[in-house]
Amino acid sequence: MRKGIILAGGAGTRLWPLTAYTCKQLLPVYDKPLIYYPLTSLILAGIQDILIISTPEDTPVLQKALGDGAFYGVSIQYAVQENPNGLAEALIIGEEFLGGEDCCLILGDNILYRSGFTHFMKAAIAENSGATVFGFPVKDPSRFGVIETADDAQKVLSLEEKPEKPKSNLAAIGLYLYDGSASEKARSLKPGKRGELEITDLNLLYLHEDRLNHCRFSRGDFWLDAGLFETLNDASNLVRLTEDYTGQKIGCPEEAAFVMGNIDRDTVLERAEMMPQSAYSAYLRRIARPKGTMFGTEE
Ligand code: DAU
Repeated sequence: MRKGIILAGGAGTRLWPLTAYTCKQLLPVYDKPLIYYPLTSLILAGIQDILIISTPEDTPVLQKALGDGAFYGVSIQYAVQENPNGLAEALIIGEEFLGGEDCCLILGDNILYRSGFTHFMKAAIAENSGATVFGFPVKDPSRFGVIETADDAQKVLSLEEKPEKPKSNLAAIGLYLYDGSASEKARSLKPGKRGELEITDLNLLYLHEDRLNHCRFSRGDFWLDAGLFETLNDASNLVRLTEDYTGQKIGCPEEAAFVMGNIDRDTVLERAEMMPQSAYSAYLRRIARPKGTMFGTEE
């Protein structure tokens, strides 16, 4: 799978006034902008070709921040979602970009952490028979799409958007895999109760064809949808704590690109030179150290 979409639109109303003057996906999560985290996830999943979709106001801002992807060894293109018509619209906006290929869709405010993420995604991609949703156990599933499965079997039994009586504690996180028919399927959807093209309705089309898989994150992993003041702050605290304890960054796209072999040492160092005084640059210099030296990424 080569292609990926980051859906980074939405009005950001729940984070107002933080979003009154700044694009939501560029708000800080501890030491980096929010969008670095889903971008890093796509890079670690082996995605090479990325489309970022955002609002008419924020698309140029994100383009200025992330450019054409050269520092991450991927290609980044941009497209506009005129109105927040729903998550499934990403597959319609991205139809030309996808050209009928399989893709990975991630929401611009989803922060994921799992040891061995590249291997996990590789397995999920290999087993994808149509679409795949990813589940994370939560205390309050009613706030999300909820996945019901038979024990640990991969097939999904049911999927419901924000049900009052959830059939499980497994929230569908903002990460999805789709085969080449996703855009066509998304075109056939009608707006749901919220007036939006619901991603759950798209996934249900796959379920009805018995082609919807699920993969589960587990204890020790973390997932946050940083769309509320509380979760945005929780994400910062969690990232800071983890980074301070381990000395390793979460959501550093340059490091992910280096580890995946997308970019070489010189590109990492060139990136660090853009703001040499920053602690982030010091980290980039450290991971670019040759193999065998103290704390270099390849040790
Ligand atoms: O975060 C996971 C959840 O995301 C899933 O469990 C649900 O099944 C899925 O429907 C979605 O739930 P929400 O209703 O909470 O999504 P929300 O409207 O908050 O949008 C998620 C992100 O996508 C948010 O950053 C805004 C952005 N967005 C949203 C819409 C509706 C867009 O970029 N365009 C849109 O049209």
